[in-house]
Amino acid sequence: MDLGIEGNAALVTAGTAGLGLASAAALAEAGVDVAVCGRDETRLEEATERLEGIGGGDALGVRADITEPREIERFVERAVSAFGRLDHVVTSAGGPPPGSFLETDDEDWYAAYDLLVMSVVRTVRAAHPTLAEGGGTIVTITSRSVREVLDDLVLSNAVRRAVTGLTKTLSRELSPEIRANSVLPGAHETDRIEELIVDGVERGEHPDYETALEEWAADVPAGRVGDPSELGAAVAWLSSERASYVNGVALAVDGGSMRSL
Ligand SMILES: NC(=O)c1ccc[n+]([C@@H]2O[C@H](COP(=O)([O-])OP(=O)(O)OC[C@H]3O[C@@H](n4cnc5c(N)ncnc54)[C@H](OP(=O)(O)O)[C@@H]3O)[C@@H](O)[C@H]2O)c1
Repeated sequence: MDLGIEGNAALVTAGTAGLGLASAAALAEAGVDVAVCGRDETRLEEATERLEGIGGGDALGVRADITEPREIERFVERAVSAFGRLDHVVTSAGGPPPGSFLETDDEDWYAAYDLLVMSVVRTVRAAHPTLAEGGGTIVTITSRSVREVLDDLVLSNAVRRAVTGLTKTLSRELSPEIRANSVLPGAHETDRIEELIVDGVERGEHPDYETALEEWAADVPAGRVGDPSELGAAVAWLSSERASYVNGVALAVDGGSMRSL
C-alpha cells in the first residue's frame, strides 16, 4: 500500500530501540526522513545506520534524554533544521519500573510522570509550530494498560492514562491541521519485554525464558506475542494519508488480548 507520505519528515522520541525504532523503520520504509533520539551513543549509531539503509530518505540520530526539557527542544530543533520540515511526531519512551503500589515512593511517581507524560507535552509543544505549518500527525505510543490494568505495573497503569487524555485533547484542539492518535501495544518482544520476562523468571514466576514467552502468549487470541514491526506498521499507517479521516483514536495493537470493548 502506498502510504502517500514519501518525502515527508518525522521524529520519533526514544526511537533507538524497541517500538520507537520499529515505528521509525516503518516510516523510513515509506520514504520518510526520520530523526530518532535516545541516551546511549552506541545504540543511537546502530539505529541511525539501520534507518539509513531502509528507504530512500535520510536518518538523523540525536543524543537526548527525554526527561530533560532542553534536550527535547534541541532534538526537535536538530530534526527541523536537518530536514527543513516536520510532518510526523511519534512519541515513545522508556518503560517505568515494574512494581506494586506499596513499593513506590513520591520520587518514582514524579519520575514516571516526567518520562511518560511531560516528555510528550514538551515534544508536542516544541514541534507544534513546524508541524502546524504544512499539516501533520502525532502518534503517541502508550500501552494496553490505559484500558486494562496490568499486575505489578502500577506506574504504567496510573500515569499513562494522562497521555491518552492528552492525545484525545490534541485531536480536537489542534485539528484540522494536525491529527493525533495513540497506539496501545500489547506484548511485543522488545528489550523492555525481555527485561520484564527475565525479572519474572528471577522471581520464580516462570521456569525459563521460553516457557515464560509461551505463558505470555497463552492468553493472546493471536497465539503469540507481537513483533515490534507489527506496532510500527500501525504507527506508519496512522501517520499516513491512508488514515486521513482517523483522528483521536486509541488503537490497540495486541493480537486481541484485551477483553474490554
Ligand atoms: N514492548 C512492549 O510489548 C510494550 C507494551 C506496552 C507498552 N510498552 C511501552 O512502550 C514504550 C517503549 O517500549 P519498548 O519495549 O520499545 O522499550 P525498549 O525496547 O526498552 O526501548 C526503549 C527505548 O527508549 C529509549 N529511552 C529510554 N529512556 C529514555 C530517555 N529518558 N530518553 C531518551 N530515550 C530513552 C531507549 O534508549 P536509551 O536507553 O539508549 O535512552 C530505547 O531506545 C515503553 O514506555 C514501554 O513501557 C511496551
